[in-house]
Amino acid sequence: MLAGRRVVLGVTGGIAAYKAVEVCRRLVDLGAHVVPVMTEDATRFVGEVTLSALASEPVQRSLWREQDPIPHTALGQQADLVVVVPATARFLGTYAAGISDGLLAATVLATRAPVVVCPAMHTEMWEHPAVQENLATLRRRGVHVVEPGSGRLAGGDVGTGRLADPVDIVAAVTARLARSGGADLAGVTVVVSAGGTREAIDPVRFITNRSSGKQGHAIADAAAARGADVVLVTTVARPVPAGATVVRVDTAAEMADAVLAAAEHADVVVMAAAVADFRPAVAAPVKLRKTDGPPQLVLEPTVDILAELGRRRRPGQVLVGFAAETGDPEERALQKLRSKGADLVVANDVAAPGSGFDGDTNAVTIYGADGRRTVVGLSSKGEVAGAVLDRVVACRAARGPDDVTPPTRSDP
Ligand code: PMT
Repeated sequence: MLAGRRVVLGVTGGIAAYKAVEVCRRLVDLGAHVVPVMTEDATRFVGEVTLSALASEPVQRSLWREQDPIPHTALGQQADLVVVVPATARFLGTYAAGISDGLLAATVLATRAPVVVCPAMHTEMWEHPAVQENLATLRRRGVHVVEPGSGRLAGGDVGTGRLADPVDIVAAVTARLARSGGADLAGVTVVVSAGGTREAIDPVRFITNRSSGKQGHAIADAAAARGADVVLVTTVARPVPAGATVVRVDTAAEMADAVLAAAEHADVVVMAAAVADFRPAVAAPVKLRKTDGPPQLVLEPTVDILAELGRRRRPGQVLVGFAAETGDPEERALQKLRSKGADLVVANDVAAPGSGFDGDTNAVTIYGADGRRTVVGLSSKGEVAGAVLDRVVACRAARGPDDVTPPTRSDP
């Protein structure tokens, strides 16, 4: 699966360093050429000999190897991907600050390959604003962060900061490599909806929401970059990917017509649009006058496009919904996942700073019908798009062509 891919495995000095050995073994089993790089502190936690024996080459630790005067640029330039397991608070700080204080730090600064970091540390350190700000900086620059889990930590404490499962780390590396390989959606038709719909009250007024279309367009861009044939149904005039079929719509009814028609030939449908749930039952044919007093608006429900897609789903088709929620979005997101027959629901807390409507960043949790959960901390909307498509690719790989999940009940 990873044959011919060159992965630099960086190991920094934390107790979770022993799990890097398992990551190394799994990557080698998948065919990757693994180049291990350890910091001096990492060697206090795991034996250099162990990693050298399991990796594809002996461990490198120093910038000053006699036979290779510039190992930091060579390692970074030749890598298809660099993964750091575990990434300590110190490593994240030096990386975010651009400080090249050793071979591993120099390698991540000198590479143009994708970089995946897997933080592990005590809860207090993980929650410290300095660490979180360094992570936010790295995410903004396109570094992929495999979030730590919760559980027992060194010394018996329990909390967030435990290194992600090696299986999940290898899945993230595999997905990232597939993405950088460029064509994991080649020949796949992906329909994406974007933007907020507008429901007319009269010829000049309408009901709408704050969606800018940025997240939906980012998904369309990312899908096109990965080789998909993209159909973008959008309410906004933003740049579109070259070669995409673009359908401009305004209302929920127009969006329903366009998406349901395109979905008949689609392998994947991603509903990132903020579709009005209700619209005025009757739009006034002429402009309402202020002198006539406040209008008495009677609203009626619109078509729930995602639920309808769930009912009409083609065999093998992957359906992705979004959930724009305030407060803890988990319960509502899981409810939407079940009730609409989607494979994935991407929950964004639209009240959290930097997340949701209009900005260039988002923070989401992707819930799968398979029970898997992917947390994507505050990142660019492009990064979120990549993470959503990684899950789409994983869904397509896991399912047979006749595997269709029907909706169980209607969304309240
Ligand atoms: O556009 P941006 O400014 O970049 O902001 C991005 C976003 C916040 C709009 C986006 O990330 C997002 O969350 N989109 C979904 C917003 C929404 O309508 O959420 P919802 O919880 O109301 O709807 C749930 C799902 O059902 C969504 O996939 C929605 O597209 C779909 N839906 C909703 C109503 C309806 N009548 N038909 C639908 O298909």
